[in-house]
Parts: sequence; C-alpha cells; structure tokens
Amino acid sequence: MFPGEIDVPPATYLDQLGTIFTRFDTQDSGNIAYGVQTDDARYFVKTAGDPSYTRPYLDFDGRVALLRTAAELAASVTHHTMPALHTVIESPAGPLLVYEWRDGDLLHDPPARERFRALPTEEILAALGDLYELHVALDSAGWVEGDFYDGALLYDFAARRLTAIDLDTYHRGPYRNTMGRMFGSERFMAPEELTLGAPVDSRTTAYVMARTALVLLPEPPPALHAVLLEATTARFPSYQAFYDRWLTASSTTADSVTNRSTCTPGSG
Ligand SMILES: Nc1ncnc2c1ncn2[C@@H]1O[C@H](COP(=O)(O)OP(=O)(O)O)[C@@H](O)[C@H]1O
Ligand SMILES: [Mg+2]
Repeated sequence: MFPGEIDVPPATYLDQLGTIFTRFDTQDSGNIAYGVQTDDARYFVKTAGDPSYTRPYLDFDGRVALLRTAAELAASVTHHTMPALHTVIESPAGPLLVYEWRDGDLLHDPPARERFRALPTEEILAALGDLYELHVALDSAGWVEGDFYDGALLYDFAARRLTAIDLDTYHRGPYRNTMGRMFGSERFMAPEELTLGAPVDSRTTAYVMARTALVLLPEPPPALHAVLLEATTARFPSYQAFYDRWLTASSTTADSVTNRSTCTPGSG
C-alpha cells in the first residue's frame, strides 16, 4: 500500500493518500508531523520538517538522524504501549515515518497531567506498570533513556490506555554526556544528564522511570514509594534491578489490598 519512495514533498503525497486532519509543526524539535485519515485507517506521519530550518544544535541532518534512530527502535522492540511503525517512505525532505495513530491526551499538558494524577492509584499504577514493562523490553534490546519526559506520554482516559511516543532521542547502548546540561526536563533528568563526561546507561533509565512515577503518582503506596526514593538517591545498579524491586514491592502492596478486602468480619 505504501511506496518505498516519493519524489514530491511529504504533504503533497499525504494529501493524495487521504485527508490531513491535523498537523504538528509548532514543536521546538523542528519536525513536522501529520495526522492522516484514509478510507480504512488513521496514521501519524512524522517528518524532519523544512530542510532549510536549523534550530540550535539540530539541523536537518540531525533531525533525520533522530528519525532513523526512532525507526531502528521501533524495529527492535514491539510493545502494546508503542504505536506500530508501518513503514518508512523516503522523500526529498527525508524519511516519512508512518505510525499507527493513537488517541490520547499528552500528559505534558497541565490539565491532562492533573486529570491523570487525580485517577485512582490502581489505575495510575497500571499505566506505570505498562511503561515500566515497555522499558524492560527497551532495556533488553540495549536502549538507554534520553530526553524522556511527560511529553512522551499519551493517555486515553476513556480506554485507560497509555501510549509512549517520541523516543527518538534514546541511545542504543551506554553513552557519555558530552553537553553538560543535556536536553530534557529537569523534573525527570538524572544527575549524570547534567554532568559533562558522566556515563549515561541503564541506571539512568531506572532513575528517570522512578522520577516519572514521582511526578505522576501523588500517593504511592509506602513499599513502592521506598523503591522510588531508593532509585533516586542510593540508585539501582541497572534498570532490571530497579524493575525487580518494583515488582516485589507491587506484589506486597497488592497482597495487603487483597487481604484487606477478603478479611471480612466473621470470616476467620
Ligand atoms: N502515534 C501517535 N498518534 C497520535 N498522536 C501522536 C502520535 N505520536 C505523536 N503524537 C502527537 O504529535 C505530537 C508531536 O509528536 P512528537 O513525536 O512528540 O514530535 P517531536 O519530535 O516534534 O516532538 C505529540 O506531542 C503528540 O501530541
Ligand atoms: Mg515531542
């Protein structure tokens, strides 16, 4: 259905493919993305934008390189929280990444974030559980967190479904901080992402995922809160070590909830 290559600008091709119902072009990334409706599906199509537009640190070639990383990431890991990448189409303005469209509100937007934080703790924990499970898959494929924040999370409140988007700045394998203060939101960033020359690796992924829970979950059960605090102070030696402790603490928490609800008066 999709060609491997087009020789017209992305928007021209997408207009022929279907109806462009939305356009994302105000992001400071310099990328331009489109929501496209065809007869049988909706797509999210991401491009590197105007080749002549250069933002500090990120020119067109830099943006194309990040899209190539995103395509590699999507090819290496499939998980229900990630929109499927259907295909990559080459164009005079670089690659078009054709993703599955996902409904949801961006948790970086304050009203959506507050609505999410006001959900029952179990529902927030279910979404975080999905995000953490995704990162087990990413971590085992060698992907290390880069520039993750709540702008990479869509939540569909009706379907109770979390989607992770825009993991274009993840790195395959450990790397070193060559910038000092790296790109990112300081509410999520690990100390090594603010320190020139510091190693960034699976431990960083653990820290950032723990910060994500601290930002999005206002009342963590005590056993889980202890794991999150450990992840952001003493630190865990790997993402997997963090995740194992999180699962153990989760089962303790679930047990105590179950015991409470099944322990009715007179039942013993
Ligand atoms: N698969 C998707 N389905 C629907 N909307 C999406 C999808 N991926 C991203 N979006 C929306 O498009 C916006 C821009 O996408 P994003 O990947 O963050 O681009 P950028 O690299 O410019 O930051 C996001 O903030 C989100 O609202
Ligand atoms: Mg983005």
